[in-house]
Amino acid sequence: MSALLTGVGVGPGDPELLTLLGLRTLREAELIVVPVRDDRDEVGYAERVVSFHLPDAPILRAPFALTDRGGVSERRVRAWDAAATLIVDAFGRGRQRIAFATIGDPNVYSTFGYLAATVRERRPATRIETVPGITAMQALAAASGTVLCEGNEPLVLFPAAGQVSALGELLDQPALAGASVVGYKGGRHWPALRELLADRGRLGAAVVGSHLGRDDQLVRSAEAIETELPYLSTVIAPPSRTTRGGKLS
Ligand SMILES: C[S@@+](CC[C@H](N)C(=O)[O-])C[C@H]1O[C@@H](n2cnc3c(N)ncnc32)[C@H](O)[C@@H]1O
Repeated sequence: MSALLTGVGVGPGDPELLTLLGLRTLREAELIVVPVRDDRDEVGYAERVVSFHLPDAPILRAPFALTDRGGVSERRVRAWDAAATLIVDAFGRGRQRIAFATIGDPNVYSTFGYLAATVRERRPATRIETVPGITAMQALAAASGTVLCEGNEPLVLFPAAGQVSALGELLDQPALAGASVVGYKGGRHWPALRELLADRGRLGAAVVGSHLGRDDQLVRSAEAIETELPYLSTVIAPPSRTTRGGKLS
């Protein structure tokens, strides 16, 4: 059996939204690496879910410079390299199964992609797999009673960190006028995003959710919130839907 690194999506925060396969993979891992923002003393969101199910799990915290907002910053690159070194060294000491726990899904805006690429480069024989997780947009759809997309509606998942005007350009294209829109990473930019949605008549049906699945979860109509939101916030702005099944044609 060759050494295996598995990125496990642990869902948005509610421990009950971890899949059975995710739990089994974490249980069978000899080491579970979890991301923390900057500091090894922090308990990150992914670790909370892991510890709820496996309080005695062999967890190793890896700082990922998650507070950096400057693209591929030097700190970020150092953090990816350091985390990859932890994992490669653990394989070198004989570990065969290492899991990396990440919020939501490991293939949706997750640090796992960068980490896996670095490990693959350093230790090409490593098998890399992922276990899907429930994403924040799915959790918000459920918590707010919002259908994410139906019929022939495109679904646009937009990272709204600092490029809000690009979303306007996207939605102004005729092919996307009827799209259902999800905004990630837009907490700080919520006032601008809100205005953009309002200008296109989309605010009324839109919902926002912050810290979904945690004790301090907030789910509100988008119209009700005017100020900045925390980083872990998501917005769903569905298109107008007037008749049942009207988007099927
Ligand atoms: C780096 S991305 C991670 C996405 C994650 N891998 C997923 O599949 O949902 C971070 C963004 O995901 C969204 N997000 C993740 N967890 C969330 C939560 N519990 N509540 C609200 N939004 C969340 C936010 O938009 C946040 O800015």
